[in-house]
Amino acid sequence: MILLHTTSVDATRDLAAAVAELVRGGDLIVLAGDLGAGKTAFTQGFGRALGVEGPITSPTYTLAHQYDDGRLRLHHLDVYRFDATAEVLDVGLAELLDDPDAVTLIEWGDAILSSLPADLLEVRLVLGGDDDDRDVTIRMVGPRWAARQRALTAALSPWMVAESPTAGGH
Ligand SMILES: Nc1ncnc2c1ncn2[C@@H]1O[C@H](COP(=O)(O)OP(=O)(O)OP(=O)(O)O)[C@@H](O)[C@H]1O
Ligand SMILES: [Mg+2]
Repeated sequence: MILLHTTSVDATRDLAAAVAELVRGGDLIVLAGDLGAGKTAFTQGFGRALGVEGPITSPTYTLAHQYDDGRLRLHHLDVYRFDATAEVLDVGLAELLDDPDAVTLIEWGDAILSSLPADLLEVRLVLGGDDDDRDVTIRMVGPRWAARQRALTAALSPWMVAESPTAGGH
């Protein structure tokens, strides 16, 4: 688990860009935390770092957006409105996660963890003391991410508060 802190939306976007440098095709990132904490802002920084040029907007009402112009295809989902696994499957989640040239980010994905593969990165954004303060917790789940723990920890050092040695699991 890596504990981070940001004090501006740009810092959260920069942090996300640092994660994007380490991402590989087939990766899954779950974005969790408070309403309005910065899950979409994280995706914007992440997508920009992949090379997505156009605006990255919240898929809250559309469920899923796809961006094809980056180093990897970016699938951006928001399952806030979902209350049933069936709806997630309707959106073709399994196919998205099978795409080896894509990375998938799911806002509120912690709500559907039982429908997701056991290899994922969980990024939890929580509102902090001041308006622009955010506590960001990164949890590496499964071997795909455990192998990158050292690199990820180094890449995130500018925002680091603490690193706990405990390995993550569902
Ligand atoms: N440190 C920060 N990190 C991220 N966002 C911040 C920060 N400080 C202020 N903000 C502001 O908080 C808001 C975050 O909005 P955003 O839509 O990214 O949140 P969200 O978690 O996706 O919301 P939702 O739960 O509705 O999907 C933006 O208006 C952003 O400018
Ligand atoms: Mg959002």
